[in-house]
Amino acid sequence: MDSNKIIQGDCQDKLKELRDESVDLVYFDPPFFTQKTHSLKSRDNSKTYAFEDRYNSLDKYLELIENVLEHSQRVLKNTGSVFLHCDKTASHNIRVILDKVFGRDNFQSEIVWSYKRWSNSKKGLLNAHQVIFFYSKTKNFKFNTIYTDYSATTNIDQILQERERDENGKSVYKRDENGNIVLGKGKKGVPLSDVWNIPYLNPKAKERTGYPTQKPVLLLNQIIRIATDEGDLVLDPFCGSGTTCVSAKHLKRCYIGIDKSMDAVNLANSRLGEMVITESELLNKGTESYLEKTEKELAILQSINAIPVQRNAGIDGFLREQNKDKPVPVKIQREDETLGDAIEKLERASIGKGYDYKIVVQTSESVAGRLFGFESNVQIIKSLELQAKERAQQSTKAQRAVGSIAGAAGI
Ligand SMILES: C[S@@+](CC[C@H](N)C(=O)[O-])C[C@H]1O[C@@H](n2cnc3c(N)ncnc32)[C@H](O)[C@@H]1O
Repeated sequence: MDSNKIIQGDCQDKLKELRDESVDLVYFDPPFFTQKTHSLKSRDNSKTYAFEDRYNSLDKYLELIENVLEHSQRVLKNTGSVFLHCDKTASHNIRVILDKVFGRDNFQSEIVWSYKRWSNSKKGLLNAHQVIFFYSKTKNFKFNTIYTDYSATTNIDQILQERERDENGKSVYKRDENGNIVLGKGKKGVPLSDVWNIPYLNPKAKERTGYPTQKPVLLLNQIIRIATDEGDLVLDPFCGSGTTCVSAKHLKRCYIGIDKSMDAVNLANSRLGEMVITESELLNKGTESYLEKTEKELAILQSINAIPVQRNAGIDGFLREQNKDKPVPVKIQREDETLGDAIEKLERASIGKGYDYKIVVQTSESVAGRLFGFESNVQIIKSLELQAKERAQQSTKAQRAVGSIAGAAGI
């Protein structure tokens, strides 16, 4: 079978057409046995994409997985690997089948793909990860180590110095005959772990097609980089919107995608024609770059038991306790703002949100500037620092007054 194409049909049939030992990597992201129909609208709302994730029984579902795994095992080269994407619904069942088809000894990793979620309508822990099982066909599998940066708490200076055991077996820095510390070979960073924090595609990401359960290209890039080299062949028997093939093409690998839905095949082909890959600002810049509150602002928010809000010009936080089931936004007056400016910004950020009650924390004595030209339900409270300053000024004034009375009375 030729590569670099998307094939429509049941992968159990189409895989039979693939030659033995011809593929370097099989990644697949089958339905997860949710017993639901997954459906979403395309970006321009013109089309609804859907696929069925309903099976007569768990056994029927696992039969499909086992069959596809057997074909994957057959078509993989001896240096090849399979990465199977699933979630808590059936991961435990699937792992047993993987052991059976690929052998327990060929288990390499259980990758946890972790991402942020914000809400949880159900009782229980917020589900914020999926699992990718990585099995190799043989012990002699292809593996490219990816290195990541050291954590902020790592003292890189120490890591770069060679260590040895002293006569008591204690690890000490190695020194040369002159007593100087011996530097080790250059370090490339920390080898990638099996927990991957890669953001889910946000609803506005250009890469998002509207295909339900579409995975981010960044996730596939990582898998493909680990298990293949340029020119290698990547196979995805449940390719959906074609994410794996887009990633493979982007990384100069060959690909074959299969999906039983014609809509998926058309979508994958159109994505391959016009590749859109959304860079993750979160990954590029790091979480810290989003945290723009100063220590002083964080202390003020903590003093009134509020949660900080980042990247919002009009709202700095929300009280942890709601007011009659409605959120209470908080704005802290900045050094370059009058109280009127701060109130106006909070009011603007609150338009149409129906907050009954809002708080501005006044941080400077100056009340100059425009104070509302509109009805406002903003409550102004003074920061502890401002209160302390005002008390100190009052007590100095009082002392001066006592001093001048005493002076006048000749005491
Ligand atoms: C979870 S989605 C894949 C999503 C994909 N990874 C992406 O990023 O868009 C699963 C896909 O498997 C397809 N599918 C289900 N059973 C299939 C089968 N027996 N043969 C081929 N495709 C199948 C569905 O049509 C669906 O597109």
